[in-house]
Amino acid sequence: MDRAQILAHQYDRVPRYTSYPTAPHFGPAAGDGAYAARLAEGFAEPLSLYLHVPYCRTLCWYCGCHTRATKVDTPVLRYAEALALEIDRVAEHIGHRAEVGHIHWGGGTPTILAVDTFTAFMAQIDRAFRRTATCEAAIEIDPRVFTDAHAAAFREAGISRVSLGVQSLDERVQAAINRIQPLADTVRAIEALRAAGIGEINLDLVYGLPHQTVASVAATVDGIADLRPGRIAVFGYAHLPRLKRHQRLIDPAALPGGAERLDQALAVHDRLVHHGYIPIGLDHYALPSDGLAEAASAGRLRRNFQGYTTDACPTLLGFGASAIGAFDDLYVQNTPDIPAYLAQVADGRLPIARVCALDAEDRLRRRVIEALMCTLGVDIAAEAAEFGVPAEHFAEEVARLEVFRRRGIVSVEGWRVSVAEDYRLLVRSVAAVFDTYLAPTEQLHATAV
Ligand SMILES: C[S@@+](CC[C@H](N)C(=O)[O-])C[C@H]1O[C@@H](n2cnc3c(N)ncnc32)[C@H](O)[C@@H]1O
Ligand code: SF4
Repeated sequence: MDRAQILAHQYDRVPRYTSYPTAPHFGPAAGDGAYAARLAEGFAEPLSLYLHVPYCRTLCWYCGCHTRATKVDTPVLRYAEALALEIDRVAEHIGHRAEVGHIHWGGGTPTILAVDTFTAFMAQIDRAFRRTATCEAAIEIDPRVFTDAHAAAFREAGISRVSLGVQSLDERVQAAINRIQPLADTVRAIEALRAAGIGEINLDLVYGLPHQTVASVAATVDGIADLRPGRIAVFGYAHLPRLKRHQRLIDPAALPGGAERLDQALAVHDRLVHHGYIPIGLDHYALPSDGLAEAASAGRLRRNFQGYTTDACPTLLGFGASAIGAFDDLYVQNTPDIPAYLAQVADGRLPIARVCALDAEDRLRRRVIEALMCTLGVDIAAEAAEFGVPAEHFAEEVARLEVFRRRGIVSVEGWRVSVAEDYRLLVRSVAAVFDTYLAPTEQLHATAV
């Protein structure tokens, strides 16, 4: 097999490891007692806060996020009331104004909240928590529904980073995904943000969408490169029509096949590198002057539920339907069901539905997988030593890497494993070898190169 065949066979078949264990392996929560106890007994600070707003004005047909469309504001207002209650309830359980080093508003489209509502939320967060002097506050926006008033409110609230969805500039692709977004919308949003003093800009692009071609993804990259966003995330379209019913509106015949998808991913990579961007991990790119590139070269890059980040906070609290919180040895996930979320918050409960307790083995494997995903390499002996186990603990996994080594995908020197730059896209397959939760068939896939 040559490189193209190996990549096409492997590259997007296993989890993207935004956590380990991954969310599908969380189990049902028996009430909110464990979470309440953990909040009360203390945790490592500063905190990272994630707030989820599961509403958009219209639904993009490719969307895999936890969101729904609403033309009217009533459900958003009802949801905002519950979110405000949840924030205060969590703060009460904690019992003191905990330090916060990172805030992320995600969705959906958080700017569906009225500007005043958003401002009130940020004030409420500041009453319940204490932002550190270097706290980064980030928000995801949809440039199609973004105004100068949002930009001004962001500045007032101390928002320092904004992430914009772009996906594709190709009009035929935009029509096929129900997302008409002229480049002018994106330019206007970025100009408004920069005029408001918010210079940390991320853009999201997607390949593998209906009617997308190598030429169209390259043209999209060339079209946005002049805007010089500090960071660009590049996602392969995940088509899951059984889980996401609206994706059935996409004509499967218009979707690029596996080899074409790979060519698109490689074309995006080449164009971004041409425009001066540095590849970060699996799917991010950053300008050399951006903090993400600096963190990557200094070995400080982290991976969390939002992807690659400089956020080094040891504890994450999630607010809103589907939001996930992470402690050193525990993940908790709120119910994704909005009526259930509203009812549980109204009932005075913490609205968690799923949990995952991590034992030492999980935590060690999480370190190994995060190191691989962030740096394309891992010193297994050093990671194992931190947990007081010998490197031989991973002898079987390293033996299974042999099939990758023979093809030049990884090099193994002693207990140091490195993924070759040419096979960056396969890092998740290499990480999957260390995942004990994958079914044997999936494991097999990860090594059947
Ligand atoms: C919450 S949205 C970003 C903010 C805003 N809602 C917007 O779309 O402009 C998160 C990002 O996830 C990515 N995304 C959504 N659905 C996806 C899918 N099915 N496959 C791959 N990426 C997807 C898109 O790049 C999108 O910008
Ligand atoms: S991609 Fe963004 S705007 Fe489109 S439906 Fe999903 S969350 Fe909403």
